[in-house]
Amino acid sequence: MSDPILTVSSLCGGYEKKTLFGKQGRPVLRDVSFTVGKGEIVGLVGESGTGKSTLAKMILGVVMPASGAVALAGQARMVFQNPGASLNPSFTVRRILEEPLRVSGVPRAELAPRVEEIAAQCGLEKSLLAVRPGTLSGGQQQRVAIAAALITRPALVVADEPVSALDVTVAAGILELIRRLRAETGTAFLFISHDLNVIASLCDRVLVMKDGALVEQGDVKTVFTSPSHPYTRRLLDSVL
Ligand SMILES: Nc1ncnc2c1ncn2[C@@H]1O[C@H](COP(=O)(O)OP(=O)(O)O)[C@@H](O)[C@H]1O
Ligand SMILES: [Mg+2]
Repeated sequence: MSDPILTVSSLCGGYEKKTLFGKQGRPVLRDVSFTVGKGEIVGLVGESGTGKSTLAKMILGVVMPASGAVALAGQARMVFQNPGASLNPSFTVRRILEEPLRVSGVPRAELAPRVEEIAAQCGLEKSLLAVRPGTLSGGQQQRVAIAAALITRPALVVADEPVSALDVTVAAGILELIRRLRAETGTAFLFISHDLNVIASLCDRVLVMKDGALVEQGDVKTVFTSPSHPYTRRLLDSVL
């Protein structure tokens, strides 16, 4: 693989609190190491509560690791499961898309063309820029959230269960969008899902997490056709 844009090394920790009597709580992540290359789509799969979202938060710098390191070559941005909750309900779609550009100091004159370019790339009609997210469908809201993440041209988008709240056909449209955006922009994705069918159809490589540790990682076809860890085999058996 060419030079990675994300390198996660021996990441440990979670939400332990230091008290006078020692650390409280147990670490969520246990010695997690992997890389994501430029323009790669890497899946992260594992049961609910295993630590997938915690890993996402550590990559974005929202939760600090107890030990280990996250190295990013470029910016990382996040897309969440529930776009309705992640979009400011009082802003128009145009304002939502402008906001990350304003924060990063993009000149005013560049805002409108950048917003219109990413909206078109994400399959959002120009008329939708004037409305507030509450009037949009779930699929349109997720397109807005993806557009808002990509508008600053990050090297990596961490998408945490971005299609899990959507109907199958709507979800398929979002997966197609992510494939196209990767091809057109070279953005890498860390795509978190508990759905192995989704991971199989979208990702180049997959990371399998169990109890906060990666038990297996590799080319998605190889891992899903000849899994080397019993946990991966069990996950596969449960969907086939
Ligand atoms: N803010 C938090 N404070 C304390 N514990 C948390 C917090 N968020 C998640 N956890 C715990 O961390 C573990 C991993 O959760 P999470 O990373 O959300 O798993 P997943 O995304 O794989 O479902 C769970 O046991 C969960 O209860
Ligand atoms: Mg989660």
